[in-house]
Amino acid sequence: MPVTPQVMTCVAEEFLFVVKYVQSLGYPEINWNLGCPYPMVTNRGMGSGLIANPEKIDAILDRVHSETDIIVSMKMRMGYETSHEIIDAFSVLNKYPLKSIGIHARIGKQLYEGGVDLDGFQRCIDHSAHKLFYNGDITSVNGFRQMADRFPSIDHWMLGRGLIADPFLPMMIKENTELYPEDRIERFSKYHNILFSKYEEKLDGEKAVIRKLGNYWEYFANAFQDPDNNIKKIKKMKTIEDYDQLVYKILQTESSLARIDV
Ligand SMILES: Cc1cc2nc3c(=O)[nH]c(=O)nc-3n(C[C@H](O)[C@H](O)[C@H](O)COP(=O)(O)O)c2cc1C
Repeated sequence: MPVTPQVMTCVAEEFLFVVKYVQSLGYPEINWNLGCPYPMVTNRGMGSGLIANPEKIDAILDRVHSETDIIVSMKMRMGYETSHEIIDAFSVLNKYPLKSIGIHARIGKQLYEGGVDLDGFQRCIDHSAHKLFYNGDITSVNGFRQMADRFPSIDHWMLGRGLIADPFLPMMIKENTELYPEDRIERFSKYHNILFSKYEEKLDGEKAVIRKLGNYWEYFANAFQDPDNNIKKIKKMKTIEDYDQLVYKILQTESSLARIDV
């Protein structure tokens, strides 16, 4: 769609409508997501598809800052086609009092493939006037340490899939330890059971609950032994009894291995 002044006005109006609604609910801040990589969104010039369009970003931020007092923070990829798109966008972003910019160090067209682009993220640090958060592929304490060594000026970090896979990771990063708490399995088990019962309340039928938990296990399994095999088995489960038994076995195996490690 060509970016005519009418289109810009319309998009800014929609954004303002959302901002005012968010404020009416009592929230003082909005996080604007220019990170979505999926074509359904990017082909319409939204998500990471908007990063290459600083004029449109400018039109929206200008109206939001002149017509409301909401605090704006951003979440972005580094571009859709190239990681240099965000560098041009900084000339606009730097004009506004944004609270922070979280950057997933990939470009949209990568989806979740390939690696993160750490040189690209360094360019962002060099060109941005705002507080930046690093985001992308932090899945272990050691991985975090490497990122922290590489980007000493960054003091905010965002975890996505690593956190879903291992809910202990943020605590272990904060405590700078690779050791799990002694009651890891009990705590994980409680967490799992809460998730399970909440989905049981919300979803219709045991198959739907098992399918939903199966999606979580695609992440959880990575923090346990034999992930690929366990994901396959979980995906085949048809009844809650079989699912429960399998999860019990996975957790028991981990628990006995932890005792051997000690
Ligand atoms: C299943 C899934 C759903 C996501 N949903 C959102 C979302 O709604 N909003 C958002 O800003 N990012 C979303 N993300 C992106 C993550 O916030 C994060 O930027 C991305 O996964 C990279 O970080 P990671 O390598 O630590 O996972 C999602 C990611 C995944 C895998």
